[in-house]
Amino acid sequence: MSSARIPLVAGNWKMNFDHLEATYFVQKLAWLLRDAHFDYKQVEVALMPTFTSIRSVQVLVEADKLRINYGAQSVSVTNQGAFTGDVSADMLAHLGCTYVIVGHSERRKYHPEDDANIVDQVRAVLTAGMQPILCVGESMEERRKGIQLDFAVGQVHDVTRDLSDEEAEKLIIAYEPVWAIGTGLVATPDTAQEAANAVRSDLRQTFGAKVADKVRILYGGSVSSKNAVELIGQPDVDGFLIGGASLKVDELAKICRLTLKTVTSRR
Ligand code: PGA
Repeated sequence: MSSARIPLVAGNWKMNFDHLEATYFVQKLAWLLRDAHFDYKQVEVALMPTFTSIRSVQVLVEADKLRINYGAQSVSVTNQGAFTGDVSADMLAHLGCTYVIVGHSERRKYHPEDDANIVDQVRAVLTAGMQPILCVGESMEERRKGIQLDFAVGQVHDVTRDLSDEEAEKLIIAYEPVWAIGTGLVATPDTAQEAANAVRSDLRQTFGAKVADKVRILYGGSVSSKNAVELIGQPDVDGFLIGGASLKVDELAKICRLTLKTVTSRR
């Protein structure tokens, strides 16, 4: 991480936790972090519940004035109308969402979300005043061919090239190699750094240093309290998008605390 960017620890809950479980979890996480005197100004914490839990999380966060941010896992590209089952960016913004995950590999795999659709989701999120967490990353096949960096950079480039500087600097990129998601096969710190650095260099070429230095680049894929310290120690890794480990409240709180400890010891 760089001292110019506030690291983000984001939990991607995927299709887990109903609204009661979500409320209980957020309450417990807030207690654990309060007991640890957690400094949210130095490390940001966010959770991405299912659509059905967002309202409950909002009510709790507002009532208890919690410093935990939250967002959604996907969004419709249109704002309203005859789109059965979809949820619009405005609806999410009205629920106080800060972030929306866009282009997660599970969405790309199980839903018709191609690059054009992902560009439109990014635009919808930005227009509604939220920040997209754009997921990119290669599969094992691309890695075996040795084209992993071109692949991840290409995914970012295709989605971001038409954005203005003001839009681009609101982006958060999550480098999530598909082979590392939910497998326990975490990328090495060097691998994560190499990809994050390649993405940042491409952003620098497209938008200039000011934008590239602002964009936070997260690593995702089998993050746990065992590997978080080494990963966050990399200069271009600005936090995590965490699946499995974000479902265990003690483990997530530990990752938050370790991130804060690493960040503050290096500042
Ligand atoms: P994982 O998932 O931490 O369980 O590997 C990460 C993600 O899918 O965002």
